[in-house]
Amino acid sequence: MISTRLVVDSDFVISELDRRVFGTFVEHMGRCVYTGIYEPGHPTADERGFRGDVMALTRELGPTIVRYPGGNFLSGYNWEDGVGPKEKRPARLDLAWSSTETNQFGTNEFMDWCHAVDVEPMFAVNLGTRGPDEARHFLEYCNHPGGTALSDLRKDHGYEKPHDIKFWCLGNELDGPWQICAKTADEYGRIAQETAKLMRLVDPSVVLAACGSSKHDMPTFGKWEDTVLDHCFDNVDFISLHAYFENPHDSTAEFLGNIDQMDLFIKEIVAVADSVAARKHSHKRIMLSFDEWNVWYKARTLDDKRKPGWPEAPRLIEEVYNHEDALAVGGALIVMMNNADRVKTACIAQLVNVIGPIMTEPGGAAWRQTIFHPFAQASRFARGKVLRPVITSPSYASKTFPEVAYLCACVVHDDASGQTAIFALNRHLTEDQEITIDLRGLGDQQRLVEASELYHADMKAINTAAAPDNVAPQANTRVEIEGHVVTAKFKPGSWNVIVTTSSKSS
Ligand code: AHR
Repeated sequence: MISTRLVVDSDFVISELDRRVFGTFVEHMGRCVYTGIYEPGHPTADERGFRGDVMALTRELGPTIVRYPGGNFLSGYNWEDGVGPKEKRPARLDLAWSSTETNQFGTNEFMDWCHAVDVEPMFAVNLGTRGPDEARHFLEYCNHPGGTALSDLRKDHGYEKPHDIKFWCLGNELDGPWQICAKTADEYGRIAQETAKLMRLVDPSVVLAACGSSKHDMPTFGKWEDTVLDHCFDNVDFISLHAYFENPHDSTAEFLGNIDQMDLFIKEIVAVADSVAARKHSHKRIMLSFDEWNVWYKARTLDDKRKPGWPEAPRLIEEVYNHEDALAVGGALIVMMNNADRVKTACIAQLVNVIGPIMTEPGGAAWRQTIFHPFAQASRFARGKVLRPVITSPSYASKTFPEVAYLCACVVHDDASGQTAIFALNRHLTEDQEITIDLRGLGDQQRLVEASELYHADMKAINTAAAPDNVAPQANTRVEIEGHVVTAKFKPGSWNVIVTTSSKSS
């Protein structure tokens, strides 16, 4: 047994949590849209073709915002192909994923789906094959009330009221050589700046995110953000980050240590963005949109990404998640919450089938992957302000980080309900962890609302259609409270959630 200590104080606040950090991502890729969220004829589908079982699981997962329509797909996408009468919509070659895109699902269907599952949309404009002109037209179609050709076209398509889409991404991963019409930082920075300018003229209320590096180890990492923001600093609100955790050497300890890499990544991007602000003598702070993150390494071969013959909705990157993957996802959520002062939006990529927390079979079942659980619990319980955690914990050495604390945790307190949510990983893989949690200033009569643990003796355990609850949270009965001090025991290699409440909330 190892002993750890976690202290928070109601006065020491990192930031109010922006609940848009519990976002997800729907790309026209593989089976995310087709036979994922949309499958006319499925036994649970509604009259619009939206799968009812997937909508129910999405509501349970609890995303707040959903990015759409890509991804690499975005950089070759014509939004016009996906609106209007379905029988007139063209099928196109999708060069990003070597698939045939039927365009039977597009902007208006996605907006209907967002309303159905009660999420905010996060749209993206194609700055690969297209540019500022297309972006301003697309925004006019979506957000302008009426009286122009494009806003009236939306009305003709059955959408009288503007969609009022607030959050827009300016392209996707344009630093990546794999991207359709990849760009240098100067090329992209100029286009992002001019696109942002036109979009703000069409609708001044939009929130805009420029593309950051597509991963931490890109050769242009850092310099890319510096140059891009140098061009578009005044016209954008966010810079994006993307990260996919890998476990190439099959070492759980290394894998879970790499969660700390995400923290470093965030702090490095904050430093770059703030150095651009300093150079411009500006008090403006660019916020971070971690708009693609997840575990992804098992289904990453060329064969996983492309199938011959231009198929419709092929099975692409259908990563099957295990217990240790769920721990990494939980750890990533903790890191993002602990950076709540700068990370204001984030999207687990993607929602369904394609590296998704939800899996489906065409015509068949839908089930929760292991990573579904930490996300759903965090989205359900994390509300209010994130408190600065002071952690005392023994640590271990990983290849990347000499000191990885066994305890990885965050605490979120909601003044309105008086509830305090504690999320914690025990990264010790063989020992129980006995934790003392001191909730200072949050009320001296704490009571337990919820205590659960996600644990499995086998790190490689998975959920399947036949055994959908093999890895699922169970009650943790080893939690005690005395006044404002909580003590608990966490199993080795576990994700833990404790929620308390106090009648006196400060
Ligand atoms: O999410 C899968 C792909 O990963 C996205 O299309 C792309 O943006 C990223 O490289």
